[in-house]
Amino acid sequence: MTPIPVPHIAVIVVAAGSGTRLGAGAPKALVGLDAHSVLRHALRGVFAAPESQVVVVAPPGHEGTVQTELREEAGPRFDLTSVVTGGSTRQESVAAGIAALWADVDTVLVHDAARALTPPEVFARVIAALEDAPAVLPVLPVVDTIKRVADGEVVGPVDRAELGAAQTPQGFRRDVLETAYRTATHEFTDDAALVGAAGHRVVTVEGSPRAFKITTAVDLDRARALVAAVPATGERPPAAAPRVGVGTDVHAFGGDGALWLAGLEWPGERALSGHSDGDAAAHAIVDALLSAAGLGDIGTHFGTGRPEFAGAHAEVFLAHTAALVAAAGWRIGNVSVQLQALRPIFAPRRAEAEAALSAALGGAPVSVAATTTDGLGFTGRGEGVAATAVALLLPA
Ligand code: CTP
Ligand code: MG
Repeated sequence: MTPIPVPHIAVIVVAAGSGTRLGAGAPKALVGLDAHSVLRHALRGVFAAPESQVVVVAPPGHEGTVQTELREEAGPRFDLTSVVTGGSTRQESVAAGIAALWADVDTVLVHDAARALTPPEVFARVIAALEDAPAVLPVLPVVDTIKRVADGEVVGPVDRAELGAAQTPQGFRRDVLETAYRTATHEFTDDAALVGAAGHRVVTVEGSPRAFKITTAVDLDRARALVAAVPATGERPPAAAPRVGVGTDVHAFGGDGALWLAGLEWPGERALSGHSDGDAAAHAIVDALLSAAGLGDIGTHFGTGRPEFAGAHAEVFLAHTAALVAAAGWRIGNVSVQLQALRPIFAPRRAEAEAALSAALGGAPVSVAATTTDGLGFTGRGEGVAATAVALLLPA
């Protein structure tokens, strides 16, 4: 009889949190995204990775439910799994997972169940990078403009090019992780910080926009919209045909500061009002792209529940949208947008606007047309601006 090979990789899935900020009345990992829970979706990504020991750290009192979820998702790999009870902090929960590692394991990934839609590629990138590094962290570029604040005032700028948003799974050589946990003297917010503080080099790999952490109700809505639109990798039928999407947006003049339209600032022109900068052209493009990808609409991803997008300009919205669309398996064929506006006089800056919008979308061609409306309607009276966009997506 051939002995069953014992895996040398383990994935610890921490799912023991109570989900206070989500406030769903149940531990966050057990809240439903569709017919399946947050945990179940997270386990899909885990089991798509190479054969590994899988330790799920369960909320105290919910070990049985977690065991059932694990059995259903693991299938024949159930023998390689175990459930342990979590602690009162994330760090204690990870420590409980470490204590359950098998002897042959030399490589450990620690993953938040709350990052339920993390694609298998991120696991693969982390595992590959562990060949040459003791610790690996998946990161996403930070798209928001970040400020240093104290006592309700901005006290300084931060260069976002230097920043990366930390995600999971974070990967470690087992000896490095175990020693760092044994000697840690205080709480860290993630394992890479704990291992880094113990003096180890942490290298980064590319994370994924789908690996966002479900923290608040808005994140849950977003995860549900993504699951409804794009089932987990492996289930999605191959996108064979191109898809188009349409988007429109309207903003009234009357905002504060300068006019922002089609990705450009227009000094001397009246500003549009809106939750962000009121750039109707950019918002119409976002809706067209999301619609083509079946990813909901601008409110799903950037609504008033996302205060970090207040005042943001086109480049932030478009870059974030392009990343979502790419993560859903599409590349942008082209985008066409038409403005209806009495002001500003658009033609002299058309090429500049097209270049700015295209750059924000990672280089996809964008054409912009503008028209007046013969004095008719709100655009004709100069009360506001309307934009209509069409986007074409091609299978990546
Ligand atoms: N976690 C855990 N044990 C804890 C706290 C957190 O296993 N005592 C896990 C969570 O289940 C989650 C991950 O760590 O998968 C990230 O934590 P977070 O998003 O903060 O989840 P919660 O602690 O559940 O949420 P909240 O902080 O809002 O209560
Ligand atoms: Mg927490």
